[in-house]
Amino acid sequence: MLKFISSSLFGDLILPDISETFKWFPLQLPFMVAMKLMLAPMENLTTPVFRELARNHACDLAFTEMARLSALARNNKSTLEKITIHHASTQIQIIGNKESKLRKFLEHYQPPIDKNAFRGINLNLGCPSPNFTNKGLGAAMMKRTAKINSMIKTVRDYSMPVSIKMRLGLNHYEKTKKVYLSLVENTDADFYIIHARHGKETYQDKPDYGIFPAVARTGKTIIANGNIDSAKKVQVLKDMGVKGVMIGRAAIRDPAIFERLKGKTPTTLEKLQNEFEQLKKTYGSKEKLILGRRPKEQKTRG
Ligand SMILES: Cc1cc2nc3c(=O)[nH]c(=O)nc-3n(C[C@H](O)[C@H](O)[C@H](O)COP(=O)(O)O)c2cc1C
Repeated sequence: MLKFISSSLFGDLILPDISETFKWFPLQLPFMVAMKLMLAPMENLTTPVFRELARNHACDLAFTEMARLSALARNNKSTLEKITIHHASTQIQIIGNKESKLRKFLEHYQPPIDKNAFRGINLNLGCPSPNFTNKGLGAAMMKRTAKINSMIKTVRDYSMPVSIKMRLGLNHYEKTKKVYLSLVENTDADFYIIHARHGKETYQDKPDYGIFPAVARTGKTIIANGNIDSAKKVQVLKDMGVKGVMIGRAAIRDPAIFERLKGKTPTTLEKLQNEFEQLKKTYGSKEKLILGRRPKEQKTRG
């Protein structure tokens, strides 16, 4: 069995004020704001190359786009390419609910050459697409806390950190029943990323940041997600007790957003696009992303 995470590997750069949960998460700058800045998983957008770009411009932690557990368990080549990690600190996001398949994948997983870059596994409990929810996956798994704990334990058996990305419930009813709060209270992940919409809401619906104070009061490490694009919003969320923010579409429109939020001089879009092209050459990638454009927003995204 492979064991990737050793406390010495992640212990070196920790400053004393960092929470226990982020033991494995080295600080990059001494003056860094306390809030962690994370790049959201986005299918066909947060490619290995884009994640490298974000890393070079102040993103603390990135996530691969969701990878189907069944494809990972059978070593599907294109799925493995999507979860390739170079140097950016990254968690691999998986969607699935079979511990046996998770074990099969983790047993064979080869960490990147830069071993510090692999930061663990993220469980997708937020995807609202019927392709997944009809099979009991994604947002349809949010109520299954025993199953979630069993998946978490499986990852921990391999000494890897594990986080959860979730919505507020599969639908409005589940939100009113505070399914999100029960999930956070009754499971034991290292941290929880909450996209503050339920599974039937679209990007036209406003995320409900009002849920964050109660979830933060559980004492668990909460990361907020949904329409976050300004220092003002980050401050509002920080005041509510969340420990970090995850940024999706705004980082495609403006990959310098992480620099902006850390008070650094933002790199120009032109320079970023040039660097992106250079990174593509370095890693032999042919993707055609034009930075600065608004990504397509289908209503069934996680
Ligand atoms: C094109 C696209 C693809 C996405 N793919 C995923 C995915 O693979 N896994 C996931 O958990 N969320 C996915 N999402 C949702 C984002 O991670 C994020 O939760 C959502 O966009 C809200 O954050 P934002 O307002 O900062 O974009 C996707 C979103 C978009 C727009």
